[in-house]
Amino acid sequence: MIAEPGRPRTEVHARDRRQDTEFATVADDYLLGRAQPEEQRLQRQINDLGPDSAAQFDLIGISPGEQVVDLGCGPGGVLHLLAERVGPAGSVLGIDRSPHFVEQARRFVAGRGLSQVEVREGDAYDTRLPRSAFDGAHMRLVLVNVPEPERIVREMVSLVRPGGWVASFEADYLPHTCDPPLPAWHRLLEAYKAYSMAHGIDLFVGRRTHRMFREAGVKDICVVPVIHVYPPGHDRRPILRDFIGNLSGRLVKEGFLTQRKIDEDMAALESHLSDPKVLVTSHLFYRLWGRMPL
Ligand SMILES: C[S@@+](CC[C@H](N)C(=O)[O-])C[C@H]1O[C@@H](n2cnc3c(N)ncnc32)[C@H](O)[C@@H]1O
Repeated sequence: MIAEPGRPRTEVHARDRRQDTEFATVADDYLLGRAQPEEQRLQRQINDLGPDSAAQFDLIGISPGEQVVDLGCGPGGVLHLLAERVGPAGSVLGIDRSPHFVEQARRFVAGRGLSQVEVREGDAYDTRLPRSAFDGAHMRLVLVNVPEPERIVREMVSLVRPGGWVASFEADYLPHTCDPPLPAWHRLLEAYKAYSMAHGIDLFVGRRTHRMFREAGVKDICVVPVIHVYPPGHDRRPILRDFIGNLSGRLVKEGFLTQRKIDEDMAALESHLSDPKVLVTSHLFYRLWGRMPL
């Protein structure tokens, strides 16, 4: 177990024994679901987005020995990249709401022998971790999938000590498109947007993360965006298909699309994506970091 910053590593806290239900401070209206295909997508994401996150961490300048936290770590996320930077003398605490992802993440770090990483089940809206106690806090691709992102940002910022760093990697759906255009792509994406909006989820949150972190008290904010194109065979080329697959039951149940329409459009999308002449442009990712005032 990793010690909470400022406490000895061997101490066991009452909080560690709390039941999952105590963490449910906001309804878990998480957009992507946590079924097996999403778990597999997140496993691939560890490598797919690793270089972009590693470059961000190098720019932040994370030091050996730091105690850092990653909110919404999923089945692995960036835990290994943070662990490399803080080294064996530091610590990384990964938090996720899904017990299954927590289990997966524990396996991921154990498989790499990263004893400085601990993964705990918890709610990013209310982590119940000590305030102003971490040297740094990071979160990747959580805000674009949840309602009330400002609350999570405030919680995350409150965990970092004066002079510590705060970092975010967040998506914005603005450029995510294919060319030549495809009516089925457009229909599926519009339904996805409508569902998200109806559930208070902002698919364009990336562009305003700078504002949310500034309003939460973060200073010296730097923003470095990144965008990709996904060639045939790239893991993320079919990401719209994957997201619709995660959500299809809920889209039908809540009347956004019929199952028949989803099936037809997904087949058209699949065929379009298999055409090497089709260019798929990624989301726009906003990589942001800053410091807590001294
Ligand atoms: C898109 S995944 C990103 C995972 C990882 N950060 C990465 O970049 O690969 C979002 C993660 O946030 C988690 N999550 C969603 N809402 C949460 C909350 N309120 N508290 C903690 N984790 C949450 C989900 O369970 C999921 O693992």
